[in-house]
Amino acid sequence: MPDLDPQRQATDALMLTGFWYRALPADRVQRNELYKATLLEIPLVLGRDRAGKAFALRDACPHRGMPLNCGHFDGRNLECGYHGWQFDVHNGQCQVIPSLTADQNLKVDRIYAGSYPCEERDGFLWVYIADPAPPGAGIAPPVAAPGPAPQIEKFSDKYKLAYLQAEMPVSVDHGIIGLMDPAHGPFVHQAWWWRSRHSIHEKQKNFEPIPNGFRMSAHTPSSNSAPYKLLRLYADADSITTTIDFVLPNLRSETIRAGKYWFSSLTTVTPITRTHCRIDVVAAWNLFRWVPFGPELLKFVFAKFVEQDRRTMEVQAEGLKHNPHLMLIDDADRPAKWYFQLKAAHQHAKRSRTEMKHPMSGPVTLKWRS
Ligand code: FES
Ligand SMILES: [Fe+2]
Repeated sequence: MPDLDPQRQATDALMLTGFWYRALPADRVQRNELYKATLLEIPLVLGRDRAGKAFALRDACPHRGMPLNCGHFDGRNLECGYHGWQFDVHNGQCQVIPSLTADQNLKVDRIYAGSYPCEERDGFLWVYIADPAPPGAGIAPPVAAPGPAPQIEKFSDKYKLAYLQAEMPVSVDHGIIGLMDPAHGPFVHQAWWWRSRHSIHEKQKNFEPIPNGFRMSAHTPSSNSAPYKLLRLYADADSITTTIDFVLPNLRSETIRAGKYWFSSLTTVTPITRTHCRIDVVAAWNLFRWVPFGPELLKFVFAKFVEQDRRTMEVQAEGLKHNPHLMLIDDADRPAKWYFQLKAAHQHAKRSRTEMKHPMSGPVTLKWRS
């Protein structure tokens, strides 16, 4: 049953630990160089060793807090710029403390710089942010990630890959609910080649619970969106299906399949700080491989959209400074409600060490105009 009253909802801007997050596009990270990144307010230094293998360390020396990105990296060990302590970049273990004399037997190998599991996947370096150690635990060996970093679903061996990103001056919550919000389309994403606000019409979509998230079930997509129009140029329209999943903490994956052609994307909204997030869209596809302008066109369409969202959220951030509450209405904001409920259920399960109780009890049909 839809709620008849709009629901007041305060975003908590809580950044979930115990998950993989995208840190940097892989093509920007060269061997033997150091790069800064921030995830969940944690300062990181990233890079690649001589063999090209990526790593991520906390950007603070365990000795006296010097940012390690200011140090020297020889492709294997990272030497802090202050007193020359050296750390293995892959596990953070201290190798050398230059000030020690031969008879001083401080156990150097028991000292660690904070180190994070780091994996390269679909053109990005991902970093696993573990749950914080109990207070007073000190510097310890790195925690292993419970599973591999998320990846884009692909349906053939050959495909193209492209990414684009945008920073938004809003919390991760606003970034995410902005991404799943169907009602802003006609107002924010107007363009002559896409749609106008007059093309607004009633829609009905089926949703179902999936582990840690929800799915907009496979369906033939609505007629008023550009990729689908393009797809119809050379695929049988009846065979087009699209599925959109949202999974905690921040993953939105979309797949479109039309016969042997497919398009797949994984969009993430990454908490940088409590008040800033970054959207990364990575798309893989085997569509348009024979059309010379295909990928550029696709990137143009996506870039335009993301830029429209970014500009909107920049303005929204002004308003959010003065009113921390929002109003969520049925059905258009129901996915946003599920997001907050999923987040709360996840937190509750973690605190109480119980199985997470999914907020959706079964499939739901939502209706809105957009
Ligand atoms: S602060 Fe890094 S070695 Fe002293
Ligand atoms: Fe949008």
